[in-house]
Amino acid sequence: MKKILVTGAMGQIGSELVDQLRHTYGENNVIGSDIKQPDNASDGLFEIVDVTDGERLFEVAKKHNVDTIMHLAALLSAKAEENPKRAWDLNMGGLLNALEVARELETQFFTPSSIGAFGPSTPKDQTPQDTLQRPTTMYGVNKVSGELLCDYYYNRFGLDTRGVRFPGLISYVTPPGGGTTDYAVDIYYEAIKQKAYTSFIAEGTYMDMMYMPDALNAIIQLMETDPAKLIHRNAFNISGMSAAPEDFAKAIQTHIPEFKMSYDVDPARQRIAESWPNAIDSTAAIEEWGFKADYDLDRMTKDMLEKIAQK
Ligand code: SER
Repeated sequence: MKKILVTGAMGQIGSELVDQLRHTYGENNVIGSDIKQPDNASDGLFEIVDVTDGERLFEVAKKHNVDTIMHLAALLSAKAEENPKRAWDLNMGGLLNALEVARELETQFFTPSSIGAFGPSTPKDQTPQDTLQRPTTMYGVNKVSGELLCDYYYNRFGLDTRGVRFPGLISYVTPPGGGTTDYAVDIYYEAIKQKAYTSFIAEGTYMDMMYMPDALNAIIQLMETDPAKLIHRNAFNISGMSAAPEDFAKAIQTHIPEFKMSYDVDPARQRIAESWPNAIDSTAAIEEWGFKADYDLDRMTKDMLEKIAQK
């Protein structure tokens, strides 16, 4: 990775990944792109790109002579369920365009899959790397198709595609937009502001989660791995923790004892959450490229509360 193009650079992952990549690979070697200009336009190389416009994506990648594409532009699960056709067009159309550009320019390629790629018939606990994937959401259908498409480009064209199945990602920098796991970010902001939170996900609903610094390290580590070591490519199960809403509440109460948790369950997002695993097994990622999460729930909670309080 010497010159990297990131799509969806203003999203939840992109906004932090671009900074970390610039820090590691140099300011002028990372090109952010998104459908709108960043608020702070002086922040480095940036191009306006709508990923559904394949020609524009090609023109930008060619102009900057990139050797790596990190394709992040996508709609998250709850938003995709509100507008399935738009999700298909953006999530699949954008991915296909990005893969085509990568094939023509012979770049390395990363795109994230998700725990959303699993469905109700998938084993819920210690969910294996290779298992049944029959998701019941449009987002999940997109993610499974994306995994297959990336494998196809690797097998058919020798394109160096790699990916992970991210769990819910938690960070204090950019809020997620329209995901099912968003409660696990909102809860920290409300803990600081109101000392109380009303969860739209029901008590007892376990899902995998991960703190953003671990997610960013995982992307870079996977992309830097000697390809000879990879048995899988798209997409590795990785998780930092498995937790339910009440676990977050308990972790927050050790810092803010008066914190109160209540529930007002959103049936649409609860349905999505219940179709996903409780806890996935990251063994393949650990064995093939040394994946490791530094943050558990307690360590992440301490950091989130400190950073949000400073904000
Ligand atoms: N965090 C995502 C979502 O909730 C899962 O990939 O949609």
